Amino acid sequence: MPHAIRFHETGGPDVLRWEPVEVGAPAADQIRLRQTAVGLNYIDTYHRTGLYPVPKLPSGIGLEGAGVVEAVGEDVKDLKPGDRIAYASAPLGSYAESRLMPAGRVVKLPDGISDQTAAAMMLQGLTVQYLLRRTRRLQAGETILVHAAAGGVGLILCQWAKHLGATVIGTVGSEEKAAIAREHGCDHPILYRSENFVDRVRDLTGGAGVPVVYDGVGKDTFMPSLDCLAPLGLMVSFGNASGSVPPFDLGILSAKGSLFLTRPTLVTYTAKREDLVASANDLFDVVDRGAVKITVNQTYPLRDAAQAHRDLEARKTIGSTILLP
Ligand SMILES: NC(=O)c1ccc[n+]([C@@H]2O[C@H](COP(=O)([O-])OP(=O)(O)OC[C@H]3O[C@@H](n4cnc5c(N)ncnc54)[C@H](OP(=O)(O)O)[C@@H]3O)[C@@H](O)[C@H]2O)c1
Repeated sequence: MPHAIRFHETGGPDVLRWEPVEVGAPAADQIRLRQTAVGLNYIDTYHRTGLYPVPKLPSGIGLEGAGVVEAVGEDVKDLKPGDRIAYASAPLGSYAESRLMPAGRVVKLPDGISDQTAAAMMLQGLTVQYLLRRTRRLQAGETILVHAAAGGVGLILCQWAKHLGATVIGTVGSEEKAAIAREHGCDHPILYRSENFVDRVRDLTGGAGVPVVYDGVGKDTFMPSLDCLAPLGLMVSFGNASGSVPPFDLGILSAKGSLFLTRPTLVTYTAKREDLVASANDLFDVVDRGAVKITVNQTYPLRDAAQAHRDLEARKTIGSTILLP
């Protein structure tokens, strides 16, 4: 019987259990998939801890994977057994050797993109696609600030923004991360555990501030990030690696220069099938052309997912991580 990682109660990494699961035949609009690589994402830790409630317990976990179609439901016309596919989508349950997925939530993989690359980039890469191309359209010549620039989202964002002609300022947690961020297009890494990033951003922009901040760190960086923005700048708060941003007085946005604020999620930006396909094609294109290089920096056996969570939460990982069934 295939196995999957599941959890019966929320909590620390130890709640993740390796269990046999019944997969069954696909319903009319589903495919059954043999998974070859699974993506690790920070959101998985939010589901595990209960920060983002899951529909019910016990629950599967994980939103990203790649593999081979084994069977298709009777209404599925555009996929067949043997096709290589990938996804970054609900329902939870990608930490599995085999699973069912709604056919409308997966995309076929081009020959040039391996299963492991796909599992390393689908969720983080589609996120960067909407952040840079749709939440706000990045213009050549702009200077941006991205937090956790050496993270999974961070390394993709630095490269893609550089490719679009931006200057990238990025915060990082260590000298090693600074060097890797720099190799991936971050022009000005800032060691935010020892340096005041607001002062550095003001210095680097001649006092002007940046037009946009991409902040997946949350609680620790949200307020100071507002001080990095130019008047009418956009604060994109898209994650909470350090904890959720507490409620705050909206008047702060007016006092700091009529700022804009958004709290986006990939779910909204890929809800329509045509948006999912267009975003995936955009991502495949920049990767295919070598403008964005996807490196798998950490690999764990799927059954050791708890250790992967410990390392991610301890800020030990750099770039993308995959779990191998
Ligand atoms: N809204 C969306 O659509 C969307 C989609 C994808 C991801 N996200 C969010 O984007 C963020 C990055 O996701 P990711 O999967 O690529 O993770 P990641 O960036 O690879 O890992 C998180 C990084 O955050 C930094 N960090 C700062 N304070 C931290 C703390 N107290 N605890 C742990 N880490 C801390 C660490 O980098 P340093 O050591 O360099 O500080 C750490 O490596 C997450 O918040 C995630 O939820 C949002």
